Amino acid sequence: MKTLTITTNVEELHPSELSEEQKTLADHAVRATYRSYSPYSHFSVGAAVQLADGTIVSGSNQENVAFPSGLCAERTALFYANSRYPDQPVSRLCIAARDDKGRLTDSPISPCGSCRQALLETELRYKNPIEIVLVGANSSYIIHSIHDLLPLCFDSF
Ligand code: THU
Repeated sequence: MKTLTITTNVEELHPSELSEEQKTLADHAVRATYRSYSPYSHFSVGAAVQLADGTIVSGSNQENVAFPSGLCAERTALFYANSRYPDQPVSRLCIAARDDKGRLTDSPISPCGSCRQALLETELRYKNPIEIVLVGANSSYIIHSIHDLLPLCFDSF
């Protein structure tokens, strides 16, 4: 038996250190939180997707009284981008969230497992790594590919 050690690379930085392009996308993600429909969790998530041609698409979490019928912000934005602009690779995705007091979370939130799998599919589909920017009020994380968030991923059969 041997142990495999899997390394994940995440850059942590202060939100003020983001590049201008990343700040613009973060701004779209924060604005999208205000369009969240989250009467059950009171947790408003926004995601903004930047495409290869610079187009920005955003989305927010949309909940349902039958809980599994709702959708996370990341997949709302990603699926809209993929369906509206199927020929444009996705270059970057930014996520932000506000808590039940309406405040931007101090630490960044991370995409759920299903959203990670959807991000993986988009990377594979366009053969293009997606930079993931997670934004909180006090810190931000940058991940250069979904592979860093989804080790030992299921990507073929
Ligand atoms: N949610 C997202 O939209 N994205 C995430 O990365 C984590 C969770 C949503 C789902 C649900 O509407 C609410 O946040 C609470 O889980």
